[in-house]
Amino acid sequence: MGSFAIVPWLLFLFLAPVIMAAAPRKPIDVPFQRNYAPTWAYDHIKYFNGGTEVQLTLDKYTGTGFQSKGSYLFGHFSMRIKMVPGDSAGTVTAFYLSSQNSEHDEIDYEFLGNRTGQPYILQTNVFTGGKGNREQRIYLWFDPTKDFHFYSVLWNMYQIVFFVDDVPIRIFKNSKDLGVRFPFNQPMKIYSSLWNADDWATRGGLEKTDWSKAPFIASYQGFHVDGCEASVSETYCATQGKRWWDQKEFQDLDGLQYRRLQWVRQKYTIYNYCTDRARISTMPPECKRDRDV
Ligand SMILES: *[C@@H]1O[C@H](CO)[C@@H](O)[C@H](O)[C@H]1NC(C)=O
Repeated sequence: MGSFAIVPWLLFLFLAPVIMAAAPRKPIDVPFQRNYAPTWAYDHIKYFNGGTEVQLTLDKYTGTGFQSKGSYLFGHFSMRIKMVPGDSAGTVTAFYLSSQNSEHDEIDYEFLGNRTGQPYILQTNVFTGGKGNREQRIYLWFDPTKDFHFYSVLWNMYQIVFFVDDVPIRIFKNSKDLGVRFPFNQPMKIYSSLWNADDWATRGGLEKTDWSKAPFIASYQGFHVDGCEASVSETYCATQGKRWWDQKEFQDLDGLQYRRLQWVRQKYTIYNYCTDRARISTMPPECKRDRDV
């Protein structure tokens, strides 16, 4: 009996990750032009291998940026980025989703550069109905300038999850029941840009961009977009029925994902608006939903 009793446990060990894995579908690499187009300073974007890789350049004249061709209501959006290497102090590389109206919704990744050998900061934010002030800041557990890493957003009616590779670094749950607005009816475009923000980005603006180190270059691959394309008609996405990102397993994080999120919060978090009593005296309602704040 002894040796047989082990078998179900072994099976459980092997199957558990499969059963519980609620990571979004594996992104598919597509050329830049499929989903994106440059927005400004076209001559500061360079294309390689038929557009499977692009590089954004920042020099003392200008930065540059690009945006998705379509607007989306819910889905999974991911980019592989290799941040500006070396002395990147003062530069900001951003990857974000935003709606285009005045009371806009926005989901933000901002990578704040640093002096050579000093750590980048990843700042995230969520705007709903034009209201932001939901900054969180973390250090990364790797050097983001050495290799390409996945940065992705999963967005459905239940939650917005920020992923770095397979690790959820932030979750913004739908807290409509607590009176918090949640992005649900304004299609968003996906944007990315590289620009100079040395008035605030690095050590609160103390470290200035060293233009003798220009040009600064951030590299991109992936360009995966799997969302409901809302440009077609206003009601299109609402009438689509359940898509994969609406399924049960994507409505909340699973146990492993919560443990990973907790690991990020405990080991890498520098700042969280939820715990900043000096700036925000009453705790925002959505913060109460955070399991361990
Ligand atoms: C830059 O490095 C300094 C010193 O290690 C650190 O305090 C800071 O958080 C780093 N990142 C940014 C973006 O300022």
